[in-house]
This record gives sequence, C-alpha cells and structure tokens, in this order.
Amino acid sequence: MRMPSPTWRPSLDRALEGNSRSHQHRFVQLATVRPDGRPAVRTLVFRGFLGDSSDMVFTTDARSAKCAEIRRSPEAEICWYFAGTREQFRLYGGVRLVDASLDEHLHEARVLHEARRDTWRALSDETRASFAWPTPGEPRDPGFAFPTTPPDAETPLDSFALIVFWAREVDHLVLDGNPQHRWKYVADSSGRWSGQEVNP
Ligand SMILES: Cc1cc2nc3c(=O)[nH]c(=O)nc-3n(C[C@H](O)[C@H](O)[C@H](O)COP(=O)(O)O)c2cc1C
Repeated sequence: MRMPSPTWRPSLDRALEGNSRSHQHRFVQLATVRPDGRPAVRTLVFRGFLGDSSDMVFTTDARSAKCAEIRRSPEAEICWYFAGTREQFRLYGGVRLVDASLDEHLHEARVLHEARRDTWRALSDETRASFAWPTPGEPRDPGFAFPTTPPDAETPLDSFALIVFWAREVDHLVLDGNPQHRWKYVADSSGRWSGQEVNP
C-alpha cells in the first residue's frame, strides 16, 4: 500500500519553489556518524526526490569517507537553510548507498539502479569527469594530471554512488514573525506521520 505524502512535504515544496531563484537552495548539510562515534558533516547538492516518494537523492564518490560512515551507521541528519524565505528544515532518518554493487535483479533494487543511471546521465560532463579522479581525501600527487575527458554518459563509473535519505523526523523553523514558528513531525513505525506546532 502506498503511503500518503508526508505532512511536512508541502512546506518543503513551498520552500524549494520560493527559493528557486538562488542556486544555493539545493545545498544541504548532511551529518553522519564516524566509526569512532564522532559526528561528521558536509555540504551536498540535493538532486531531487526518488520517483513519486519523498526519499531524497544525492550523488557522491563511493570512495569518500561519508560512504564508509553510511555503510556502517545507516542514519543521518540533514540541515537545510533557505535564505530567501528564512526557514530551516532539520530532517533525521535512514540513509543508504546505491553503488555499482547493487543487485539490479531484485525488484526494489531495479528502481534504485535506474535512478543511479538516470542521475548519472543528468550530470554535466565536468561533474562526470570528477568521478575518474583519484580517491578523495588521499594525499595529492602534484605530478598527476587529473582526467578532464568526460566518461561515457550511459554507463556510471564504479566510483559513482547515490545517497538515498528518507526522513523519520522533521523539524521546521520559520524565522519570520515574532514569535517565530516551529513545527515538529514524526513518523510512527508504520510510516504514518503526525505533526504539531511547538514553541520556537
Ligand atoms: C556547495 C558544495 C556542494 C557540494 N556538493 C557535493 C555533492 O553533491 N556530493 C559530494 O559528494 N560532495 C559535495 N561537496 C563536497 C563535500 O562537502 C565534501 O567536501 C566531500 O564530499 C568529502 O566529504 P567526506 O570526506 O565527508 O566524504 C560539495 C561541497 C560544496 C561546498
């Protein structure tokens, strides 16, 4: 049975629409947990929702530190500030990687496999070329010439991965107003959302 759209989704859609004139409206901060328990956070580009779900799609290099963190600890928090409308969404939830090792023959995996291929196709040549660079975070060899030739647009490189995130809790703060406004939304174990306005 398909779940109805989460109750927070119209607010996020309005924020995306209301801030669309600035490229920055697609930058989110994704926090994960390092193997030693310390937090780690970085900026990612929001690439859209997975099909007609509210799962969020990001792209990354499968060799980067965040991927090892997600494999080991598949939960994350996103902080997303929309400067134009002065509002913040904090989304806590589950996260998974969709990389070349996915078995595309499983039904659920086929959708993810297609999303990985379609997202790769939609990237610019410049961004696709960056996935042929040496391993992120390793010492840079000053003599190494980074490849600039774009890889085949039809076949994602093994280093290309999607990060798929699905929210379980959402905290939405709108700065305009005195007092400001804040809402909290929580999904129960069957994925049904409830929400209420709370003190800012
Ligand atoms: C504006 C901006 C957008 C970025 N977008 C992405 C992105 O979409 N995917 C990505 O993997 N890294 C992106 N980065 C780089 C990450 O913030 C980070 O430095 C890199 O992924 C390594 O992170 P890690 O060591 O935690 O894996 C972006 C950085 C900035 C400043």
